[in-house]
Amino acid sequence: MERIVVLPGDGIGPEVTVEAQRVLAAAASRHGLELEFEDELIGGASIDAHGTPLRDEVVDLCRKSRAVLLGAVGGPKWDDMPVDTRPERGLLRIRKELGLFANLRPAAVFSALTGASSLRPEIVDGIDLLVVRELTGGLYFGEPRGRALVEGQREARNTMVYDEHEIERVARVAFESAGRRRRHLTHVHKANVLEVSQLWVEVVEEVARDFPDVELAHQLVDSCAMLLVREPKRFDVLVTSNLFGDILSDEAAMITGSLGMLPSASLGEGGIGLYEPVHGSAPDLVGRDAANPLAAIGSAAMLLEHSLDAPEPARAIRDAVAAVLAAGHRTADLVLEGETRDVVGCTAMADLVLDNLGLDERDGRS
Ligand code: IPM
Ligand code: MN
Repeated sequence: MERIVVLPGDGIGPEVTVEAQRVLAAAASRHGLELEFEDELIGGASIDAHGTPLRDEVVDLCRKSRAVLLGAVGGPKWDDMPVDTRPERGLLRIRKELGLFANLRPAAVFSALTGASSLRPEIVDGIDLLVVRELTGGLYFGEPRGRALVEGQREARNTMVYDEHEIERVARVAFESAGRRRRHLTHVHKANVLEVSQLWVEVVEEVARDFPDVELAHQLVDSCAMLLVREPKRFDVLVTSNLFGDILSDEAAMITGSLGMLPSASLGEGGIGLYEPVHGSAPDLVGRDAANPLAAIGSAAMLLEHSLDAPEPARAIRDAVAAVLAAGHRTADLVLEGETRDVVGCTAMADLVLDNLGLDERDGRS
C-alpha cells in the first residue's frame, strides 16, 4: 500500500484533484497497485481553518508519504494579505521542505488540439518540449527580502541568489531528461546583465562534460520568449531558474492550446514527488463544473511514472486522454470561438477518461 497525500487547495483545485484521484486509483489498481489517499489542507483553505497556509503536521505527513497530489492555491479572498502569510506561501514552503528543486513541466500538443492554440496549426503541430524549472532557490527564496521605509520612501527588495550546487543538481536532471528525449538542451538565462546567469552558464557548461551526447545551447530569456511563439518546435528540453521558468512555462502551456492541459512533477533528493497542474486556482470557474481536469489527470500520470515506477498505467492514462480528445470531447477552455461542440464538464471529462481506461483493458492493450 502506497500512501499519497492529496492537497486540493483552493479555487478549482478541489474539483480537479478529486477527478485526478479517481483516475489515478483506477489506473493503478488495474495494474495491481493499491494506493491509500489522505486529504489535507493547503493555501487559503488552511488559512481559513487553521490560520496558516501550511501546518507542520501536514509537512510531516507528506514526508512520510510516497507522493503528493496537489490542486492549486490562492484566490481573491486572500489577495490583500502580505506575501509572507498568503496561500502561495504554503506551496512555496512544501516545495522547499520536501527539497523539490527540479520542476518538470512538459508541454506537448495533442494532435486533436492543434486548432485550440492561438498560434497557427502548422506552428503548433508537433510541439513537444519540457521546461525544467529550478524550484527552491533564486528570486523566490533569496535573502535579504522585504519592505522598508527609507527616508520616508517605501522600498522593497528581493534577492536573486544561486550557489553552484543548486545550479548543478537541476542541470543534471535536465541533461538526464534530454538524454531520454531528443538530446537537445537549451539553457535560458540573462547573462548579458546578471552575474547569477553568468554563473549558471559556467556551471551548466561544466555539467555538460558529463553528457557528451546531449547538444547544449544557451538562450537569452527575452529572445527565448520570442522564439517560443515563433518556432516552438525547435525546443526539446529547457532548463532555467525559478522565476524565468515560472514565466516561460505558462507561455509554453498556452501555445499548446490551453493552460488547462499542462501537468507538472516536482522532484528532489528526498525521493518524494509532488504533482500539480500548471494552471492556478481559476476563481472564475469555481463551483460551475467548468474546470478542465486533464492537467491534474496528466499530473497523476506523472506521479505513476516518477514516484511509483509504473510507466504502463501512466501510458494508459495518456492514451485514454488522447482517445477522449480525438473523439471530439472538450471542456469549455478547449473550444474555439465560433466552434460548435458539445462541451463537457469537469466530472464528465474524467468519466470519459475512466471509460477509455476500461476499454483499453478489454482490448488487452495498455
Ligand atoms: C506556479 C505558480 C506558483 C509559482 C505560485 C502560485 C506561487 O505560479 O506553480 O507556477 O509561482 O511557482
Ligand atoms: Mn506559475
